[in-house]
Amino acid sequence: MLVDINQTIALLKQGQVVAIPTETVYGLAADASNNEALRQIYAIKERPADNPLIVHIADASQVNEWAAEFPPLAQKLAKAFWPGPFTLVLPAKPHVSTIVRGNQPTVALRVPNHPVTLQLLKQSGLALAAPSANKFTQLSPTTAAHVAAGLGENVAVLDGGACKVGIESTIVSVKGDDWQLLRLGMVPESSIEALAGRPALKNQVNIPKVPGQHLLHYSPKTSIKLFGSREELVNFAETSQKKCAALLIGEGITPTCKHINLPKQAVLVAEQLYSVLHMMDNYQVELLLIETPPNAPEWLAILDRLGRAAYQ
Ligand code: TXA
Ligand code: MG
Repeated sequence: MLVDINQTIALLKQGQVVAIPTETVYGLAADASNNEALRQIYAIKERPADNPLIVHIADASQVNEWAAEFPPLAQKLAKAFWPGPFTLVLPAKPHVSTIVRGNQPTVALRVPNHPVTLQLLKQSGLALAAPSANKFTQLSPTTAAHVAAGLGENVAVLDGGACKVGIESTIVSVKGDDWQLLRLGMVPESSIEALAGRPALKNQVNIPKVPGQHLLHYSPKTSIKLFGSREELVNFAETSQKKCAALLIGEGITPTCKHINLPKQAVLVAEQLYSVLHMMDNYQVELLLIETPPNAPEWLAILDRLGRAAYQ
């Protein structure tokens, strides 16, 4: 069910959930200070309660309403990457609902870069908790139609067009001068490191991991098989007894199965990846064959999502 911005604000203020556009993926939003509304998010997504939510805010001036500390490094990163596909995990103020935090001592905050949702946040005065608007472990939605297909027509959706970034935000946890990369995204580690002036901490116990980083995630219903080279993929397609479809990075064809080509540019693949996977999932084939992009810095977030989507 499509709703406009005023209906969205009214529903959110009544404690209902609404799927909203962002530049990364659509989020299933609720008033971050309303526990009843937050519980609905977990129920609709069938998401485990220990998997915390990102709180979306209108600008960095609202960080102090949620975070107990906003250290200079975090301020610098917020200034560089907000609004944008970047989430900061900071120590939480005590009032922040344990439902939002999934019982963590921290809260995740993001200023999304989408005109409709920025207007929504400003006009409503609300902070919106919003995980991706899909069932737990399934493919994230990048259009309003994907939300309806995944969650059903009863969920209210504010249509803001197709998401431009296409994969979920980079998540960074900051404590004092230290930082840790919790989820790869299109803001690359090298840009964060350059601003921080020091590398990320690896596997520190005092900084929480992302509880939601399940190995099986972002998955279409059809099984996926990844291939490190085009030759292997084409050979497999020629000899396999299974009905396949292929996703190729760059030009070319697979003579024996239906295929889709994506341009060999990381930002363009990210933008279209979930849309293409949603589409291929509807082909009614037994197996999706995917050519993996090169193992280079700009492709890491895409390789991460493909690895999880293919995990059995
Ligand atoms: O791009 C995005 O980040 C999208 C859009 C809607 O903003 N949201 C999104 O939400 O991807 P979700 O719930 O699918 O993923 C959020 C991740 C989860 O893995 C969760 O565990 C982690 O953020 N997270 C949230 N709060 C956290 C916290 N306090 N500490 C550590 N990880 C946290
Ligand atoms: Mg998600």
